Amino acid sequence: MDLYEYQARDLFESMGVPVLKGAVATTPEEAANAAASMGGRVVVKAQVKVGGRGKAGGVKLAENADEAREKAAAILGMDIKGHTVHKVMIAQAAPIESEYYLAILLDRANRSFLVMASVSGGMDIEQVAHETPEKLAKVNIDPYKGLSLEEAKKIVVKGGFPSDVADDVARVLVTLWDVFKKSDATLVEVNPLVKTKDGRIIALDGKVTLDDNAGFRHPDHESLIDTAATDPLEALAKEKDLNYVKLDGEVGIIGNGAGLVMSTLDVVAYAGEKFGGVKPANFLDIGGGASAQVMADGLSIILGDPAVKSVFVNVFGGITACDAVANGIVQALEILGGKATKPIVVRLDGNNVAEGRRILNEAAHPLVQQLETMDGAAAKAAELAAK
Ligand SMILES: Nc1ncnc2c1ncn2[C@@H]1O[C@H](COP(=O)(O)OP(=O)(O)OP(=O)(O)O)[C@@H](O)[C@H]1O
Ligand SMILES: [Mg+2]
Repeated sequence: MDLYEYQARDLFESMGVPVLKGAVATTPEEAANAAASMGGRVVVKAQVKVGGRGKAGGVKLAENADEAREKAAAILGMDIKGHTVHKVMIAQAAPIESEYYLAILLDRANRSFLVMASVSGGMDIEQVAHETPEKLAKVNIDPYKGLSLEEAKKIVVKGGFPSDVADDVARVLVTLWDVFKKSDATLVEVNPLVKTKDGRIIALDGKVTLDDNAGFRHPDHESLIDTAATDPLEALAKEKDLNYVKLDGEVGIIGNGAGLVMSTLDVVAYAGEKFGGVKPANFLDIGGGASAQVMADGLSIILGDPAVKSVFVNVFGGITACDAVANGIVQALEILGGKATKPIVVRLDGNNVAEGRRILNEAAHPLVQQLETMDGAAAKAAELAAK
């Protein structure tokens, strides 16, 4: 889960990362009140989970409460890269002297964590890496050893920080490591970390991604979920423990195993090119033991998506053999009754496929048709969706 900037700010504050005062507002009036309570200049910042808010006009300085009201009115409702702004953060304005960059992330390729530090912050770090790589330190951290202050100091020097700020920045980096580790994050990024005119080091922007797989260790993280912004079908799927991701096409997809479902998406997208660009409507992996109930839950979520025009069930029988899956489909359609309304193309293969196909043929459900190959079934599902 990605956090909003204001949530990252709160997390930073609770763990001792230096931040400025901040408050969220959903109306211009709330923004004005928050600015008044902070006294003086503030920055009004769009809260959307996408980068480049500043460049898009979503970060504006306000000299006083009235200006904060105006700026908030302009920013609320704005569209930033497809994300509508529903909240703004009112942050105390910092007298900035320099902008730096710090980040800690999960480095999957190296099975390790990566710290990045650069004296050139505030801008796209890709640009720094490309144009002035000597100003960007990238150092892997041994997960068992963690990050010591000594090591942090070396990284900071490597990142080009001048000696008058190096120690303070290194201390912030160690605190960020603490945040990263204790909250089970996969990303903690501060851009910019600033030096103020009076010599303080402060995190002005924070991006945090929490590892949902570690959610069971953090019951408090539940409250960080933005239920209003969660896709309702995804929320329903989560309730049913299904791995479902909403996509923007028309062919509903159900498969067993993430790899098979991923390739099904590709095959359907490819087949859809012949039918005016029909695309998959979702990712849904019902996993190994596809019981009738799981199949019914999956089908009902997919059929509940108004964008779906046809469904493609693609199952490779393994430990759960094709006959069990076929029975699951038949029973699922009984459970759903009149709620099942869209054509369903089924392709079964693998363990006990003959029996699985026989069961579906015998049930002869009017919505269901079987095809033997994945490509053939994908083409049929795409054709039906295009009708
Ligand atoms: N509290 C603040 N006081 C003064 N200036 C600020 C403050 N917050 C942000 N700024 C200025 O605005 C710039 C952009 O802000 P910020 O980094 O939060 O957004 P962004 O980088 O555009 O968005 P994103 O991080 O989503 O890409 C900063 O580099 C900084 O110069
Ligand atoms: Mg930023």
